Amino acid sequence: MCGIMGYIGEENAKDIVISGLEDLEYRGYDSAGIAIVNNESINIRKSVGSPSELRKLTGNEFGNIAIGHTRWATHGAATAENAHPHTSESGLFTIVHNGIIENFAELKAVLESDGIIFRSDTDTEVIAHLLEKNYNGDLKGTVSQVLKMLVGSYALAILCRDYSDTVICAKLSSPLFVGTAEEGSFIASDVSAIAEKSHRLYRLNDNEIGLVKKGELKVFDLDGCRIRKNEIKLKAFDKNDGKCGYEHFMLKEIHEQPTAIRNTLKEIITENNQVFFKNFHLSSKAIDELNNIIFVACGSAFHVGFVGSYLCERILHKTSSACVASEFRYKKPHLDGNTLAVIISQSGETADTLAALRIAKMQGAKTVSIVNVENSTIAQESDNVIMTRAGKEIAVATTKAYSAQLAVVYSLIFYLAQKNKSITKSQSEEFIRELKSIPEIEEKILSQSTGFYKYSEQIIQAKYICFIGRSFDYCTAMEASLKLKEISYIPCEVYPAGELKHGTISLVDKNSLIFALCCCEEIKAKTQSNINEVISRGADVICVSHDGEISVPYTDDIFCPMLEIIPLQLIAYYTAKKKNCEIDKPRNLAKSVTVE
Ligand code: G6P
Repeated sequence: MCGIMGYIGEENAKDIVISGLEDLEYRGYDSAGIAIVNNESINIRKSVGSPSELRKLTGNEFGNIAIGHTRWATHGAATAENAHPHTSESGLFTIVHNGIIENFAELKAVLESDGIIFRSDTDTEVIAHLLEKNYNGDLKGTVSQVLKMLVGSYALAILCRDYSDTVICAKLSSPLFVGTAEEGSFIASDVSAIAEKSHRLYRLNDNEIGLVKKGELKVFDLDGCRIRKNEIKLKAFDKNDGKCGYEHFMLKEIHEQPTAIRNTLKEIITENNQVFFKNFHLSSKAIDELNNIIFVACGSAFHVGFVGSYLCERILHKTSSACVASEFRYKKPHLDGNTLAVIISQSGETADTLAALRIAKMQGAKTVSIVNVENSTIAQESDNVIMTRAGKEIAVATTKAYSAQLAVVYSLIFYLAQKNKSITKSQSEEFIRELKSIPEIEEKILSQSTGFYKYSEQIIQAKYICFIGRSFDYCTAMEASLKLKEISYIPCEVYPAGELKHGTISLVDKNSLIFALCCCEEIKAKTQSNINEVISRGADVICVSHDGEISVPYTDDIFCPMLEIIPLQLIAYYTAKKKNCEIDKPRNLAKSVTVE
């Protein structure tokens, strides 16, 4: 995973690179490093923790060229030794890398048999040594030759001591952008880190090599042929507007959910309550002929897809499922022109989700992607894109993007169902009216926000925690359990309420705490029986229902996931706060997961 950043130009390169790395921190923040070129010398500084640590380490150092890296460890612990940049034996090459070199073990074995001593446990270091080993004075030729040996994914920025006016970069699967301006050039994993400073922006494609000099980019293929690049024109991108008085971004973003939903719906719902998607290429005939709707995503976005699959069966009357993107290809799915693959991703960069989109397209399925980042790779590659308008989400644990994704999924299914005539126009309008009322109801729940603090002690004391629910309540239970564990580090499970008795109930005793989600009226009585079963075994139960200990206002059952998650996000937040956890940047996580 990780983010890379580079600069070559007239300004102090380290300031530009460090602040770029801070923008890229969502890609990983366990360690960071920078290489600063000053005349003949290259100074490398590395640190455990976030890129801001590099400010102290680099002090007043100056140089016109720098490359830097913010890391999410894949190979080797999060130590300074394993932090990038990595160098070749003599220091001729210095590199930063985002991605994974899958054949690094074979390459390393050969290099070690040549006597090369590795200084880190990373897969990346092989690239630096291969460059030096194969170097013949021709930088571009050597880089091409080495890239052809690599299996996996990479976005690379490379310095070579012999070429003091150049940063060379290349990519395969991991994103990479170059920006130029008269006074300098920029390289970054995410265009938003360089967009403001650049006059011209370019997206590097797979198997392209970029020679970047001050104010200039020349691109070549791996055979050395020059490629003419077109500039990319950026649509607007969201900015970080700070914590606005909240203690954490997560709390701020929880409170921004009503706005995120309103802004998202504003773009796709007309005044007379009709769903309207701009540039949507799915004819009524194609919709009629769909026989399989598959939702593919990771993490919380998968939970949104899970809700979508329940809704599809119920409202659209079509076969539907949700698949975790990292498992999608191994399931060997059978898709065809009558399949609709709905790809959900906040970042639009998640590697497994992107791979799933590509597979779906290759197999001829129709695709719709729901993303929050306009210029992201998934947005670029999808047949149809529906934007969530959650604004920039900083906290790693998603909240407002999750809610905005749900709003789009509901709208999409109402749209398809009306076209398909599985619901009438007036039924669709009724659903949409209810969907539009959700933000206001959320605001009521959020106004009691601090009241949820009281559950944190009970959660911390419990020896076993499980979230249970049926139907749409179960979908929310999955997200609630993920929220709690990812930010508070408290182990907890999630089970369909009816499945508990098939094994897991053996864990339940008087030290257990069960969150029972019970908002769906249709199956309330059945969940109540399961609640009684755990109470009989001594467990404490916190019930989330219309009249439970945690009370959520009435809606049609299908909308329960949008409301009942709010108190559970807050409970997760306050529990993590009580434990003094790093709420916005939980350990071991990253916001955008760009490796498989
Ligand atoms: C990471 C984040 C999750 C997110 C998941 C999918 O694991 O921590 O919050 O749901 O990636 O990310 P995406 O950007 O594809 O929605």
